[in-house]
Amino acid sequence: MENIIQFVYIASASLFILSLKWMSEVKTSRWGNWAGTAGMALAILATLLKPEIHSFLWIAIGIVIGASIGTPMAMLMPMTAVPQRTALSHAFGALAAGIVGSAEYFLHGANLSMPQLIVLCVEVLLGFLTFTGSLLAFGKLQEIIPTRPILYPGRNLVSLSVFVFSLFLIAYLVIKGGSHPFLFGFIVCLSLLFGILLVLPIGGADMPTVISILNAYAGLSSSFMGFLLNNKLLIIAGALDGSSGLILSIQMCKAMNRSFTNVLFGGVGQILEVADPSRDGKIVKSLSPREASILFEAAKKVVVVPGYGMAAAQAQHVVKELTDVLENRNIEVKFAIHPVAGRMPGHMNVLLAEADVPYDKLVEMEEINPLFPETDIVLVVGANDITNPAARKNPGSPLYGMPILDVDKAKQILFIKRSMSTGFAGIDNDLFYSPKTIMLFGDAKKVLNELVISINSN
Ligand code: TAP
Repeated sequence: MENIIQFVYIASASLFILSLKWMSEVKTSRWGNWAGTAGMALAILATLLKPEIHSFLWIAIGIVIGASIGTPMAMLMPMTAVPQRTALSHAFGALAAGIVGSAEYFLHGANLSMPQLIVLCVEVLLGFLTFTGSLLAFGKLQEIIPTRPILYPGRNLVSLSVFVFSLFLIAYLVIKGGSHPFLFGFIVCLSLLFGILLVLPIGGADMPTVISILNAYAGLSSSFMGFLLNNKLLIIAGALDGSSGLILSIQMCKAMNRSFTNVLFGGVGQILEVADPSRDGKIVKSLSPREASILFEAAKKVVVVPGYGMAAAQAQHVVKELTDVLENRNIEVKFAIHPVAGRMPGHMNVLLAEADVPYDKLVEMEEINPLFPETDIVLVVGANDITNPAARKNPGSPLYGMPILDVDKAKQILFIKRSMSTGFAGIDNDLFYSPKTIMLFGDAKKVLNELVISINSN
């Protein structure tokens, strides 16, 4: 039986690796999803064959509770809420790792060797800090608590002290050996506290990156759990999870031109009480969709820039409709895809694929930027930060240094959004006041619908 289990584990690990490989490309991503699901189903089935399991009662209860939380979560949560859904999944996964580690300690703590104790303590530390960190991240993203960084003087010193003190207690526990339930409980409490301290000063546009870093911690914790339980599949799956979370975090930091330490300790995203005298007296031009439709009559090249607002309005299908209408009039249409447009990596690609926009129309930032000067109209659909020229021009701006789509270089810019309010980073966008810019105020779906009707009737 053990051989069969190990064989199934190898098949399952291979499926996880294939899943990651396939998910890295839009064309194969559905396959990736299926491979991951099949790998997990095989892993669970093989584990249920283990002779150590004497009763299935508690496992069945766990499956029923898990499925009754997970199924509605997967079916009912909208695409725009995927980051918070992911945060909740990490919280549950990390809690499971923390609880399994604690159970091991209370059952076998006195008999564990020094390396086993080290692995157990690191697993518990990572598990519980990821649990509270992820719950806090969920609360911030869901706006149950303020999404802005919560800052206080000496916060980095406080967090560092809690972390170092936990490490000191772990070292003491490991050297002393034996069972010290009180000390162990104290380490658990410090880990829970450290998770809160870690995420509290982070906010705004950095939250999705934090989710990805917590993903890496949760993966590492599971991997350590695998060493503890001598479960090779758990080691592999945890390592894959941990490393992919880390790679994703690095990619997101690169796309925002930020360092890891700046995201974790920078306190970026607080409301800046900066007096902005330049805003007063600035002129904002706006047109109705009917009026704006005339502008397309002279256009030859149009670039659509989708952002979070397109996702929020679920406007991807009507964006596709507009593309067809324009192409029927021999207007070339391209889509400019910024790496952190929306609220999760690949957000825009997924939505546009759902609306059957061909992949070859989606152009990455580096390739589309040189094309803006020869673009007649840029149609920005619910995007803001990723177009903000302050990222290039204003060293004082929290967005400074983030690579952006150079839409300001196009001949004409149309912004579809509901108001003059800021984007995720909470920063005003000077481009709204440019003489080349026209605002089309309203919900993206509604405005685009009216635009399609008007262009068709011109
Ligand atoms: P944002 O800068 O957040 O701007 C979105 C705009 O959409 C808002 O200004 C909002 O203005 C508008 N909007 C919202 N609902 C709308 C609706 N129903 N119809 C029309 N407009 C609507 O989005 P972005 O430009 O996509 O930039 C993404 C932000 O997320 C960046 O700051 C980025 O750093 C951050 N971020 C993303 C990621 C990933 S991986 N995607 C990771 C880390 C950080 P109104 O309220 O006026 O309508």
